Amino acid sequence: LPSHTALGTVPWLRTDHPVVLRNSLDADNVVTIPNGGAQTPNADVTPERTIRDVYEAKTSSKFARYQQEYQASIRDVAAFWNQQALEYLVWDRPFDHVLQGSLEQGNVAWFTGGKLNTAYNAIDRHVQAGKGAQTAILWEGDEPHDVRAVTYDALLAKVAQIANALRAQGVGKGDVVTIYMPMIPELAMTMLACARIGAVHSVVFAGFSAEALAQRVVAADSAVIVTADQGARGGKSIPLKNIVNDALTKMNTNDVVDKVLVWERYFDHDALHPEETEPTYEMQPKDVRMDVLVAAQRPYCPPVSMDAEDNLFILYTSGSTGQPKGVVHTVGGYSLYAAFTTKNTFDLTDGDIFACVADCGWITGHTYVVYGALLNGSTTFMFESTPLYPDTGRYWDMVQRHRITQFYTAPTAIRSLMRYGEDIPHRYDLSSLKVLGSVGEPINPEAWRWYYEEVGRSRCTVVDTYWQTETGGHVISNLPGITPMKPGSCTVPLYGIDAVVLDAVDGHVLEPKDGESTEGVLAIRQPWPGMARTCLGDHERYQLVYTKPYPGYYFTGDSVMRDKDGFFFITGRVDDVLNVSGHRIGTAEVESALVLHPAVSQAAVVGKAHDVKGQGIVGFVTLDVNHEESPELLLELRNQVRSEIGPFAAPDKLYITPSLPMTRSGKIMRRILRKIVAGEVDTLGDTSTLADPSVVDDLIAQVQASE
Ligand code: WT7
Repeated sequence: LPSHTALGTVPWLRTDHPVVLRNSLDADNVVTIPNGGAQTPNADVTPERTIRDVYEAKTSSKFARYQQEYQASIRDVAAFWNQQALEYLVWDRPFDHVLQGSLEQGNVAWFTGGKLNTAYNAIDRHVQAGKGAQTAILWEGDEPHDVRAVTYDALLAKVAQIANALRAQGVGKGDVVTIYMPMIPELAMTMLACARIGAVHSVVFAGFSAEALAQRVVAADSAVIVTADQGARGGKSIPLKNIVNDALTKMNTNDVVDKVLVWERYFDHDALHPEETEPTYEMQPKDVRMDVLVAAQRPYCPPVSMDAEDNLFILYTSGSTGQPKGVVHTVGGYSLYAAFTTKNTFDLTDGDIFACVADCGWITGHTYVVYGALLNGSTTFMFESTPLYPDTGRYWDMVQRHRITQFYTAPTAIRSLMRYGEDIPHRYDLSSLKVLGSVGEPINPEAWRWYYEEVGRSRCTVVDTYWQTETGGHVISNLPGITPMKPGSCTVPLYGIDAVVLDAVDGHVLEPKDGESTEGVLAIRQPWPGMARTCLGDHERYQLVYTKPYPGYYFTGDSVMRDKDGFFFITGRVDDVLNVSGHRIGTAEVESALVLHPAVSQAAVVGKAHDVKGQGIVGFVTLDVNHEESPELLLELRNQVRSEIGPFAAPDKLYITPSLPMTRSGKIMRRILRKIVAGEVDTLGDTSTLADPSVVDDLIAQVQASE
């Protein structure tokens, strides 16, 4: 069981943190804001009644209705999801059982006996319903003028061709296809092509290093890698193919991989004779030119009818150990959950242009760039570049030009854009916007207000969506036009999500009491369709991490404060997982990377509050004898992390120290390091179990001297 809750790691919930002065908000002092605009018009919201109008949640009839419907949904989750499954998806064969198994036993299964295909549900059925000419994917490349609109007709044909190309290369049902690609439409199409033939995609974020890619390919025993010659970001080319070449030289990757299918980022799709074009990279024996192969395929491929519980995809994510977990999502439950949450959280309606600017390498890109909007027959906007390229108005320029209706990003992006002032968003016509989404970490009230007032002009709903790779989609979020908003709170659970606060130590449920707030760990008491079913090849780890810590519950790993109105505030992780710019990074992974360096004896990594990134990474290392600190060594150590994991995991600060705070049994006490980097040296807690308490004073002196 986790021994502590992380309450206090979220600055604005702490009275002793300077950020509170800027936000002047704490949990008891949060202003509740009317439930916002969006499609569901709310008579309470007028231009005159904006953020400063304190809204009494209980008087909202829509919210009262939510509360009733929510209670009904969790009284009988099977009945609730049965109804949604019939409404949101087309089944080839109806399911026999809605729900089987239990959290207690870790064997949950949804819609068993049912058969369906996710790609059919995301594409074909919309074409059959007459939507073929509607844009399915609206893509904007690194350069703003580089825009492609892919209709549902075109998407169907292309996905069928890619599916046939994969088949021609020997990919069959159940095979794992690793996708290491830039954010181009072909990435989404390749994912959908896998879904069409029942292959299991494993998308690896293109920011991961060769080493990290190799680790994931080998762990999944994936014989096929789909990549591109290069990516483009911020005007720079990223040599993805070279990284794949490099990955093949690591571990036994070359024995595992049979084929490397290579898209060309600037391929001339109008070429009459694709096969006569020259490849833009040096071809290796296992390489296949994907654009050429695909062009040669027939644009028809029957969807494979899958069991509801067949694997749809795996996605590696960080946990408390050095080994990333291959989180498994299934065809029926995940598809329903992606469709359901996109529709409800974003109040999606016909004609919307839904923009989630996350990368497909993370779960947010899976559920809200690719699957969610398409399963609803909407238009999904896909973005290759960064919010700062070619200038800091890029997001708002896109909203204006494409008339984007929902815009979904991470707090870290908002915080980085805030620094350039509200003049930037004010230059653009943002009147198309209805819902603004936030994801990845708690959004601090200061950033929330900027998003709400300067981007949304106090007439859009800001949805603060709490979820995880493992939950498949949102589990706690406000609903536009229904739930009142509180800056910094992800508000209340979605329908069908039986979220509870548990006492961290003894695990009993802290039931909500009117007018009382409570703190504990966040868990979910009943299964939901979008939950991960297992970790690939390691069900024991799945149970150990999610279902065993508090038997009978799904354990999120997050600590939470539920305020007196029943609104949830996530207060931080209770495990050794960091959240850097909305990216999940395990401290153990960074530590493993550091100790691989020949000079390093021991390493400990902790998080530190960071103004833009949310958390920054601070590392402490001790050196082997015969090695000395030098600027070159510090650089080598940072590069070590970059090459083992990826640039995004490089520590912000590294300390080389003579010793680390250890218990007598040899365990590093990271709690003490966390306190030292946070400057909270007066509240270090019990240091009596340290083998050598004097280490602490030396570390404090070293850290203070460096700041
Ligand atoms: C962890 C999951 C889910 C997509 C992005 C991250 C934190 C996520 C919120 C939010 C507070 C949040 C939690 C969670 N988190 N969204 N709205 N408010 N915290 O996915 O990499 O699986 O990370 O991100 O700590 O456990 P992930």
